[in-house]
Amino acid sequence: MFQNHPRAVAKIAVAGCGGRGNSMLSLLLEMEDVRITAVCDPNEERAKYAAGLVEKAYGASCAVYTDHREMMEKDDADGVMVSCSWQAHCEVAIAAMRAGKYAAIECGGGCSLDELWDLVRTSETTGVPCMALENCCYDRNEMAILNMIKQNVFGEVVHVQGGYGHDLRDEVSFGRENYHYRFNHYKHRNGELYPGHAIGPMAKYLNINRGNRMVSLVSMSSKARGLNEFLKREKGDDYDMTGYPWAEGDIVTTMIRCSGGETMLLTHDTTLPRYYSRFGSVRGTRGMWMEDGSKIFLDGSSDDPSYAHAPQDFAPYYEKYNHPLWKQFEQEGVKGGHGGMDWLVLRAWVESMLAGTVCPTDVYDAAAWMAVTVLSEQSIAQGSSVVAFPDFTNGKWLTRDPWLRTRYCLDEVCTDLFEEEEGSAE
Ligand SMILES: NC(=O)c1ccc[n+]([C@@H]2O[C@H](COP(=O)([O-])OP(=O)(O)OC[C@H]3O[C@@H](n4cnc5c(N)ncnc54)[C@H](O)[C@@H]3O)[C@@H](O)[C@H]2O)c1
Repeated sequence: MFQNHPRAVAKIAVAGCGGRGNSMLSLLLEMEDVRITAVCDPNEERAKYAAGLVEKAYGASCAVYTDHREMMEKDDADGVMVSCSWQAHCEVAIAAMRAGKYAAIECGGGCSLDELWDLVRTSETTGVPCMALENCCYDRNEMAILNMIKQNVFGEVVHVQGGYGHDLRDEVSFGRENYHYRFNHYKHRNGELYPGHAIGPMAKYLNINRGNRMVSLVSMSSKARGLNEFLKREKGDDYDMTGYPWAEGDIVTTMIRCSGGETMLLTHDTTLPRYYSRFGSVRGTRGMWMEDGSKIFLDGSSDDPSYAHAPQDFAPYYEKYNHPLWKQFEQEGVKGGHGGMDWLVLRAWVESMLAGTVCPTDVYDAAAWMAVTVLSEQSIAQGSSVVAFPDFTNGKWLTRDPWLRTRYCLDEVCTDLFEEEEGSAE
């Protein structure tokens, strides 16, 4: 298994200084065992703004780059946080690994299978880890569900659901004015553009790339009307984008079949009015969980026969199956954006770098999760035909090395490691 030298401080460079890059940078600046060495964005104003955040925190600025290639060549960072626009994710991560720097890719879909194969082969040939920085794998909800699945509460898992239900009409419609990358993707692409928040946790529930793999995919897209109606209301009929034939359908539904026989259902839903949801659901031979409404139903769990099929409130289960990482996080004080999951995913990456080990998600995870976008585009373009999923592990999924047991592990809940820590603190 990969082993780099351990270090006392993780030196990190940030590539992509938009809203996300800056919010993650602010968290990294709070960590005593992290030093930000450089920031990079082709938009110089943004790069300088991020450098200003560094200066405010450290009292001294860091290096500022507008070209990631120059940054990789000159900077001595141990790792690069890839928080740039989707189409630059692989290029920047590949450059980072070639320069011997741990890459961590923010969520977002791939643009071609070729770039994903390049990503995989670069990590394999350089031996440098590439982590999929999927924060939702570390949300309290998803971690509790992972814990329940590992404890067999739902029995054998047969089907999982997830997605991204987030009203982004404002962000997408005015992406040209606000210099936001989503604008061009929605104009020209039709597919499951943002699979990470759903596929990340679901893949870990189903042991994807470790004894299981995604085998085939089919996607279907609705018509696109949400942005037109929104722009008509906000800008009127004369605005140039009001009548634009946006490529991205309002609702894109994707189904994936796994080699273990399980199915996954993903929904991308970002251009119609709605409340936020990741549509999480798990169906097993002993019960089910439903994120919307926060409900659970377990076979035989009701004492009252007249309510035998009534759902139960998930809250008590949440407490009972709270992941030990979250128990510890709550005791120490939850911090960071998106309810704390941003902090945890960054700590998972940083602590891997400090220990010089592999990360809890790897390049095979990153490639498979990002491939959902490319394959869903292909499926829709071919009239919703079934497309085959590449095996980025080249058969290694059948007999992988054992995973690294850490507190951030997503392949197993390593409860003993928390108990050991508690014991040594007493
Ligand atoms: N995990 C989450 O919850 C979450 C939330 C928001 C965004 N994101 C992800 O973070 C990323 C950035 O999102 P955002 O909202 O900040 O977008 P944004 O468009 O505001 O910023 C992206 C920045 O990347 C820069 N960029 C483009 N090519 C680059 C390159 N080669 N090197 C360095 N920088 C480059 C752009 O100039 C831009 O400033 C996306 O992948 C997005 O999906 C994740």
